[in-house]
Amino acid sequence: MSQHITFVANFKMNLTAHQEIEYVTHNLARLTQCAADPTCRIVLCPSFLSLAPLGKILTGSHVGLGSQDSSSLANGPHTGQVSAHNLYEVGCRFGIVGHSETRKAYHLSDAAVVGKALHLIQENINPIVCIGEEPGEQWEAKLTEQLTPLFNALLLMGKHPQHQHLTLYLAYEPLSAIGTGVVPAHAELEKVFAFLAHQVKAHALHLPIKLLYGGSVKHHNIASLLTIPSIDGFLVGNASLNFQEFEKLID
Ligand code: PGA
Repeated sequence: MSQHITFVANFKMNLTAHQEIEYVTHNLARLTQCAADPTCRIVLCPSFLSLAPLGKILTGSHVGLGSQDSSSLANGPHTGQVSAHNLYEVGCRFGIVGHSETRKAYHLSDAAVVGKALHLIQENINPIVCIGEEPGEQWEAKLTEQLTPLFNALLLMGKHPQHQHLTLYLAYEPLSAIGTGVVPAHAELEKVFAFLAHQVKAHALHLPIKLLYGGSVKHHNIASLLTIPSIDGFLVGNASLNFQEFEKLID
């Protein structure tokens, strides 16, 4: 486990842009204070509409700003897509890709998710790549299927001096846990995170990798989740929508 715990708030499509800006402005002092704590890293992932205003509001706060998705293409005639380059320009330094809800809605292949992650890296944005399995799937086989193209692409990309400050976050989010209130058994998660840590070590990638857990993270289960070796942080959906709830996790 790393020196600090990373908390990524994924607001999804739950708040209006107005509410997201209100959330940040109203709690800016406390967010800034939490983000200044060396044991904690906070990343907020609001809707696309709020990214530019929040990029300005959060300047100098050490609170990270992240997108919920981005294009696997660089630029050009791709109606409705948002490029990593544009995200960087408005202050995004983190980007979620391959969330199971997005994979399902847009029928994303693992290759497309890898393409999105690579474009984020090229634009100096830390990718948060979501992986996980559907209930009943063999988790080991499923995770290997998702990790292999990602690791191969990273190895091919090689070592770039301008990317040396980047970290790749792998967020393990089993579908059965997202928004359900049901977290997998502790022993099960221990096995999955030991497997992920082993995979990361075995591949000797050029980018540091941190492992996040996501799926029904709440203040009543976070202490137990934190005892699982190799968990470096959390991707939080519902419990991040209300700042008091989110603060309880961080505390
Ligand atoms: P949840 O969502 O915390 O509401 O389960 C997590 C996620 O989908 O990232």
